[in-house]
Amino acid sequence: MSSVNEDYITNYIRDIVPEKSGQLKLMEEYAHENNVPIIEPEVGQLITVLLKLHRPVDILEVGTAIGYSALLMAQTLKGDWNITTMERNPEMIEMALENFQASPYSDRIKIIEGDARETFPHLTKKYDFIFLDAAKGQYMEFLHYAMDLLKPGGLIVSDNVLYKGMVASDQLVVRRKRTIVNRLREFLEHINKMEGYTSSVLPLGDGVALTFKEDLI
Ligand SMILES: C[S@@+](CC[C@H](N)C(=O)[O-])C[C@H]1O[C@@H](n2cnc3c(N)ncnc32)[C@H](O)[C@@H]1O
Repeated sequence: MSSVNEDYITNYIRDIVPEKSGQLKLMEEYAHENNVPIIEPEVGQLITVLLKLHRPVDILEVGTAIGYSALLMAQTLKGDWNITTMERNPEMIEMALENFQASPYSDRIKIIEGDARETFPHLTKKYDFIFLDAAKGQYMEFLHYAMDLLKPGGLIVSDNVLYKGMVASDQLVVRRKRTIVNRLREFLEHINKMEGYTSSVLPLGDGVALTFKEDLI
């Protein structure tokens, strides 16, 4: 379990998050049994609220895995929307495609296959909502592209930014994670200083950063 919050806080919040049913529930079970990292229930709930408030049309996700968060977003979105999601692991891509096809949303969700650092430069469309949930050490690179592709008034949500608490305390840092931790610190400092953007870092789940692009730039 993450060290961002005390276990009793995390457990309490998780207990009151409404349980998923149907396909999402089966995907949660699959992820749990096969150690596939998917968004934590409380982070899923935050994203659900943000989507209801923000009502994005064009959504971009970096890090599809089995497609759980994409389908959670799909179930929440109303009206005209589309999701583009980027993934580099062929096994994950295959499973995500199967999951999308088994859902009512397969025509609205598109997977871009390959390393996002290579596929990002080919994207030209602008997005209202960008969810970063891939390799944590690459967030600065993803951010560089995401800022260009984000519409004014758009929101970037970045998951796992406190990385089991290591980002906030040297005492928690394990040696092999030092580089990722340093990069995440650089990322968080950067998003809090960027002109034309306002960010907030929430100690929810493994840490979530919200970055809003001002309308008037
Ligand atoms: C935490 S999982 C995503 C979970 C998913 N968002 C969910 O909540 O259901 C991270 C995924 O990002 C993918 N990934 C990591 N770095 C990537 C990169 N540079 N380009 C594309 N995919 C990447 C991994 O293969 C992995 O499947």
